[in-house]
Amino acid sequence: MSIDYVIQPGGSLSGRLRVPGDKSISHRSVIVGSLAEGTSRVSGLLEGEDVLATIAAFRAMGVEISGPQDGRLRIEGVGLHGLHEPHAPLDLGNSGTAMRLLAGVLAAQPFDTTLTGDASLRQRPMRRVADPLNAMGAAIATADNGCPPLTIQGGRALHGIDFEMPIASAQVKSAILLAAMYASGTTVVSEPVPTRDHTERMLRAFGYEIETQERRARLQGGARLHACDITVPGDLSSAAFFLVGATIAGDADVLIEGVGVNPTRTGVLELLERMGARLELIPRGKAGGEPVADIRARSSRLRGIAMGPADVSRAIDEFPALFIAAACAQGETVLRGAEELRVKESDRIAVMARGLAQLGIDAKERPDGIIIRGGALSGGDVQSFGDHRVAMAFAIAGVAAAEPITVHDCKNVDTSFPGFAVLAAQAGLAIETVEESV
Ligand code: S3P
Repeated sequence: MSIDYVIQPGGSLSGRLRVPGDKSISHRSVIVGSLAEGTSRVSGLLEGEDVLATIAAFRAMGVEISGPQDGRLRIEGVGLHGLHEPHAPLDLGNSGTAMRLLAGVLAAQPFDTTLTGDASLRQRPMRRVADPLNAMGAAIATADNGCPPLTIQGGRALHGIDFEMPIASAQVKSAILLAAMYASGTTVVSEPVPTRDHTERMLRAFGYEIETQERRARLQGGARLHACDITVPGDLSSAAFFLVGATIAGDADVLIEGVGVNPTRTGVLELLERMGARLELIPRGKAGGEPVADIRARSSRLRGIAMGPADVSRAIDEFPALFIAAACAQGETVLRGAEELRVKESDRIAVMARGLAQLGIDAKERPDGIIIRGGALSGGDVQSFGDHRVAMAFAIAGVAAAEPITVHDCKNVDTSFPGFAVLAAQAGLAIETVEESV
């Protein structure tokens, strides 16, 4: 079965909404909770397929995990040295985060493992994580093209490293920090620009000492993780579709409650504000060591802006949605320094440029970005290429389109945002889900 979205013109967005739990924090709660000593309880967990893949991987390594039910999970942590050898390769589905973070943990185990995934994940670059882990003493092999499967030899003694990351990647940083807990000595990871720091916050919440500066994290191997309870905030990356949708729709006013607003993630809010979006943040304290807010967005008159390398990592997953905002803005939006978008769940520059052109928008690809001239969105057929965020971006474009939009191949929306179409329909988007047998 394949799933298409059909969006009729004339919809808008209004009311109070809650989006599912943050994907990055959900993964980390499962990983760190499994490696902690004692019972951890998680609430607000994202029950998306990506996180379910991480849960299944730890179950396959002997961790008792009950749930998820209504976003609640109970993890009987086995300690850093309590995992068992899985009987089969670990299949991480569509999840780059699961594969890269697990590589860090598994590099340090006494047993061998193989990590694989779906067709999209099997085309994603893994040397970026294998190389630094191997420099710590691990033995990780990729396929010849540097992609999965990852074959990880166990029984290696890891040592700390001082690693300057050539690319800004929270996944790579996190893999190294997780491996560093098992390594002798100190590990220091420096990044070219700050990336999301959920791993650092989570390790601290579980009692592992970690020193952090703006672009540097340092930790000493050999300590322990102590179970704790984690509340996962709503995912700003999921909220972004509704924020953009409200700013481009006529007569829209939405309030998204309980969204994580970690400053390493809020680039999308600043970029939208630079475009003229009417956003309002109402702080709601902290959850699981992460700042939380309600976010209001209303119909706005957007204008094109220039976005450069400094803007990319703090909004890395929000560009598909931002490109839709750019398509509805007055003037040109230029993005540079964003080559990383080409190695996400799809080549998001190529795929978005293609879909925008399909909807009558002038969008020119550049090797490291895109130039979008705002205009009138027509309707038409758009391919998501199995990329969840591309599918949701084009669905939300439906609030501003003159004719119906059909988005093909939307099943993978379940990886990060189960229930997206239902929630969007409740908020006023004229969206219908159509199942097709393939
Ligand atoms: C993530 C980091 C980002 C992001 C991904 C989730 C994480 O990837 O795109 O969706 O949870 O650490 P990179 O670190 O590869 O940029």
